[in-house]
Amino acid sequence: MLNQNPLISLEGTKYLFSLLLKGISKTDLMSLFDSLFEKDITKRKECYDGSIKEKRKQNQINGLLKLIEGNKRRIFEIGCGNGLLTYNIAKRYSELDVVGLDNNPALIEKCRQKFKETKNLIFITEDAHALKIDNSGLVISLHGCGDLSDRVIDIAEQSKSDVIIAPCCYSKIKRKVLDYTHQLPRSKELQSFREDFIKKVLINTSKYENQLGRFRDKSESRLDEVHKEIYRLIVNIDRLIYLKEKGYQVEIKAITSKYFEDEKGMHKNSPMRYALIGKVTR
Ligand SMILES: C[S@@+](CC[C@H](N)C(=O)[O-])C[C@H]1O[C@@H](n2cnc3c(N)ncnc32)[C@H](O)[C@@H]1O
Repeated sequence: MLNQNPLISLEGTKYLFSLLLKGISKTDLMSLFDSLFEKDITKRKECYDGSIKEKRKQNQINGLLKLIEGNKRRIFEIGCGNGLLTYNIAKRYSELDVVGLDNNPALIEKCRQKFKETKNLIFITEDAHALKIDNSGLVISLHGCGDLSDRVIDIAEQSKSDVIIAPCCYSKIKRKVLDYTHQLPRSKELQSFREDFIKKVLINTSKYENQLGRFRDKSESRLDEVHKEIYRLIVNIDRLIYLKEKGYQVEIKAITSKYFEDEKGMHKNSPMRYALIGKVTR
């Protein structure tokens, strides 16, 4: 099914821009998400122990674990934070070498202590923007803020590795970090949208992201939330088209169900709960 999603194209992007102009209700946007990248998610309420934050994280980790089944080489997680995803991958794939990387030395030290019993797992402190790796099999990142997700795409591409990212914090996208620069849009195919990317996509994503909470208000009138999700999707579609241009097969898939609720029945999952997947064509 890779490369089959009609949204991952110039036409798909034009369609998303047209939705911003003519307007779309929240319900219709959710149906669009459903039809385009939620097909594989079981429509059930998720249930885990711990705080809402921990439950949501575990939920996302489980969704990502499903996506990496079948990958049989080294796995590199970038921006591993508290190492929970890295640990879960290492536990499930005990035959693989798993590396967790973060530029925060205190976090890495904690990970080393906490997971020292897990033999196929190492943690390293390094800035992803300075990182160079050999072929890794898979480079993965959960909540790589802003351009960290773009950097992860580049690390995968340079090392000819598969890539899975669940991006976040679009308001933190910068085009230049240290010596690392990327143009937006990233893909050649969307260059005709260059002015829109600079003047609208980044500015509005940032504006809406800073203004609003999660996509859990059931009111149809929250069109600003709808716009935020469409702008985020446009950024991610561009990332996928870029990968496609670099010879990857690409897909976008939801990693968690939208039916995740807390004990009061409040929706706690944002629609920003999908992963971008790139497979090297070998
Ligand atoms: C939002 S947290 C996500 C952590 C973890 N993946 C999770 O989902 O819980 C982003 C992580 O990326 C790390 N990070 C940010 N910029 C980085 C960079 N340039 N190189 C390596 N790690 C970075 C941060 O220290 C932080 O731990």
